[in-house]
Amino acid sequence: MLENKLGITSQVELAKAEERVSKANAKRLFDSGDIEKLEIGTFKGLADIHRYLFEAIYDFAGKTRTVNVSKGNSRFAPVMYLEVSLNQIDKMPQSTIEEIVAKYVEMNIAHPFREGNGRSTRIWLDLILKKELKKVVDWNLIDKDAYQSAMERSPVNDLEIRYLISNALTASIDDREVYMKGIDVSYYYEGYTEYTTEDL
Ligand SMILES: Nc1ncnc2c1ncn2[C@@H]1O[C@H](COP(=O)(O)OP(=O)(O)O)[C@@H](O)[C@H]1O
Ligand SMILES: [Mg+2]
Repeated sequence: MLENKLGITSQVELAKAEERVSKANAKRLFDSGDIEKLEIGTFKGLADIHRYLFEAIYDFAGKTRTVNVSKGNSRFAPVMYLEVSLNQIDKMPQSTIEEIVAKYVEMNIAHPFREGNGRSTRIWLDLILKKELKKVVDWNLIDKDAYQSAMERSPVNDLEIRYLISNALTASIDDREVYMKGIDVSYYYEGYTEYTTEDL
C-alpha cells in the first residue's frame, strides 16, 4: 500500500480516509471559489487540483511520479519522458470537443501522479469544457463500465470516450449540485463509495 501522512497502515482504512479527506477538499475547492483561480488546460492547473485534494494525505500530492505505472494493458508515460510529454500536452489546442477529449486522453496516458489521476483529471477536464464550450460533463450520465472500457480503449482510439462525453454535456456549468454529484460519480468510478460529498 501507499505511504501516507496519516500514519495509516491498513489498506481499507487508508481508502476510507483518503475518500473522506479528499472529497471534503473537492467540496471546499468549489465552495471557497478557489476553483475559479486555477489555470485551465495545463499541467500546472492539474497539479494544483491534485495538491488541493491530496495534500494532507500524500507527500506526492501535486508532484509528478518517480516510478513507472501501468493499468490493464496500458503502460503510462515512462518517467523519463513525463516532463517532455506534459510540456507537449500544455500546448495542445482545446477549442473543440475533439481537441479537448484528445487532450484529456493524452493527459491520462501521461498519468502524471502516483495515484489520484482519474479523480483530479476529471475536474481538470470539466474546467476546460466550461471555459471553452460553456458546458460540463454530467457524470451521472456516463455508466461506470462504459467509462472504464472507453478509457482502456482511448490510447488506441478516443472515439468511444468522445462519444460518451459528448452525450453527457450539460449547460448547467455553475450548478453546485452537478459539481458535487459529479465528484461522487468520479469517486464511484474508482471504487470509493463510503461518503457522499455533500455530507462532508
Ligand atoms: N487500462 C487503462 N488504460 C488507460 N487508462 C486507464 C486504464 N484503467 C484506468 N484508466 C484511467 O486511469 C484512471 C485511474 O487512475 P488513478 O491514478 O488510479 O486515479 P484515481 O486514484 O483517481 O483512481 C481511470 O479513471 C481511467 O481514466
Ligand atoms: Mg486509483
